[in-house]
Amino acid sequence: MKLTGRTILITGGSAGIGLAFALKFLELGNEVIVTGRRRTVLEEVKANYPKLHTIQSDVADPAQIVALAKRVKAGFPKLDLLMNNAGIMLHKNLKIPASDLYGLMAEVDINVAGVIRMNSAFIDILTANKGTVINVSSALAFVPLPSAPIYSATKAAVHAYTQSLRFQLEETGVEVIELMPPAVKTDLAADITEGDGFTVITTDELVKQSFALLKAGAVEVRPGQAKQLAFMRRLAPDFINRQLWKASKKLVPVGVVGS
Ligand SMILES: NC(=O)c1ccc[n+]([C@@H]2O[C@H](COP(=O)([O-])OP(=O)(O)OC[C@H]3O[C@@H](n4cnc5c(N)ncnc54)[C@H](OP(=O)(O)O)[C@@H]3O)[C@@H](O)[C@H]2O)c1
Repeated sequence: MKLTGRTILITGGSAGIGLAFALKFLELGNEVIVTGRRRTVLEEVKANYPKLHTIQSDVADPAQIVALAKRVKAGFPKLDLLMNNAGIMLHKNLKIPASDLYGLMAEVDINVAGVIRMNSAFIDILTANKGTVINVSSALAFVPLPSAPIYSATKAAVHAYTQSLRFQLEETGVEVIELMPPAVKTDLAADITEGDGFTVITTDELVKQSFALLKAGAVEVRPGQAKQLAFMRRLAPDFINRQLWKASKKLVPVGVVGS
């Protein structure tokens, strides 16, 4: 993948993995726009990194995606890389009814519908500019983390969708890449602790490994333990599934937490 001289939009680029990628892309001489829902966080990012363009936008809201697409296409006609990174992870107790059946689907709305809607809203400009889509799934697309059952299902869905997208866009000149991070130290993974069978890497380490793989032309980028999980789900699927259940059992909420 070409890593310089590009115009890049990163959803959820105001924190964690998205921000780390945004800063690396900036360092490599790219124009970078990041989005997020919280205005205060975006303002802080803008103050710390004035070269980053920040736009408040929620990928779970189709109207906000339409407005974002209009604004970005007008303001950044050279846009040629969309990184669908925004995501949330929730631990759920499936043994009890959810207090809110709407809220129960938040991860689906953001992690899956957000990716699909964003790609649809930007496919015309990405095709015109022979661009790149990077969909961020997870190593959990290979093996679910049972304490986060909906999250794991959303990442398996993004993986399947990304494979179809790659085939459909094959002759358009649009490159489709999937980033499948292992456990990374961010707010999203704050509950995942090192030593329970997990290795938790820093965003710096993720960026280092991912950019090396992107530079080498990988279309499925599997840094760190993601590579091992992909291997294990083929070699010993029952074993690795149970290992992740054992490691995550204590993360299942005891009562109704949120939805
Ligand atoms: N950390 C890990 O261990 C790990 C492992 C594998 C995959 N991933 C994936 O990597 C991606 C980034 O995760 P992260 O760990 O960097 O999480 P994070 O530190 O919690 O950051 C998430 C970012 O997404 C934004 N966001 C959340 N919901 C959004 C929405 N509806 N619309 C727009 N922006 C939204 C957040 O800002 P606001 O809250 O202000 O909107 C924030 O900027 C996610 O897709 C995640 O599933 C993470």
